[in-house]
Amino acid sequence: MASKATTARTLLRSSAWSTSSRTAAPSFKQSFGARFASTQSSTAPASSVFTSGATLAAATGLTVGSIAWYTHLYGELPLIGGVSASSLADNGLHPAEHPWSHKGVLDSFDHASIRRGYQVYREVCAACHSLDRIAWRNLVGVSHAVDEVKEMAAEVEYEDGPNDQGEMFQRPGKLSDYMPKPYPNEEAARAGNAGALPPDLSLIVKARHGAADYVYSLLTGYIDPPAGVTVREGLNYNPYFPGGAIAMARVLFDGLVEYPDGTPATTSQMAKDVTTFLHWAAEPEHDERKKIGLQALIIFGSLLTLSLYTKRFKWTPLKTRKIVYVPPKDAH
Ligand code: HEC
Repeated sequence: MASKATTARTLLRSSAWSTSSRTAAPSFKQSFGARFASTQSSTAPASSVFTSGATLAAATGLTVGSIAWYTHLYGELPLIGGVSASSLADNGLHPAEHPWSHKGVLDSFDHASIRRGYQVYREVCAACHSLDRIAWRNLVGVSHAVDEVKEMAAEVEYEDGPNDQGEMFQRPGKLSDYMPKPYPNEEAARAGNAGALPPDLSLIVKARHGAADYVYSLLTGYIDPPAGVTVREGLNYNPYFPGGAIAMARVLFDGLVEYPDGTPATTSQMAKDVTTFLHWAAEPEHDERKKIGLQALIIFGSLLTLSLYTKRFKWTPLKTRKIVYVPPKDAH
């Protein structure tokens, strides 16, 4: 019984298929042939070259051959050669990730830390490193009160002029002046540091892979060179610095500065503070950016909710209506 029924259904289906194919196929072919007659005839030989197995084999052979030849010549794979595993000697030790208090998407800088960091910069780093992009006025309201900054600026002499006699003169610094440089030019900076140039620190946090983590690790990472590693005279071993040998010696030691707020000035504390300060210097808009980001989220979130509600409100009559055809009664 069952098998009979199945056979019958199969027959039925196949016959239906054959009728439809018998009727549909010729008409499809005709229209296809008619429409593409001109293009088909010209592309027919070309497409056979492109789809032939011989072409495929030749192209594969060419690719494999050229990669092999390139590897033979240059010793590494083309294009993906740069993805080699990072080597300690070339890239330095990867810094650990530190729990910065401003790391979260809604966290602001620790401004007490910026203030201490400025002190470390001024008392230690400023002897060699400039901070070209920061003016005194930038510190106002961030780490210091305006009168404090005016006082600090006034302690530095700036060249100004020319005056009525056409001469340049020295005057005390103002809020609009930029941070004083330790060296008048690059040559003087190199001459003072055995040929190495202490880079400007304004953007250093953004300019180094690893950002603040790198700067912190660099400052706290000075160790004796491991067995078998010799460091050239005048250089210092630091595994975080690419190459391992850095011209800057260890500069931070416990108790080097005295914080007025009573924070113990350990090496790691000073490194953390000065890195926070340099992070602020590289990204002074940081706090404002996160604040505006939160405001934008709130505003656009509310607007989205409002527009979703309005959309549903406006569309309700359309979405819920039912169209019914009621034939006229007196038609018959
Ligand atoms: C005695 C001079 C001197 C002092 C003080 C000094 N540095 Fe340097 N610093 C250098 C020199 C020189 C270099 C360049 C090193 C090199 O290229 O090998 C350098 C390089 C650096 C670099 C860049 C490393 C890199 O990846 O290129 C950073 C960051 C840095 N110093 C931070 C600091 C901080 C922060 C302080 C203060 C706590 C400081 N330095 C104090 C001389 C100094």
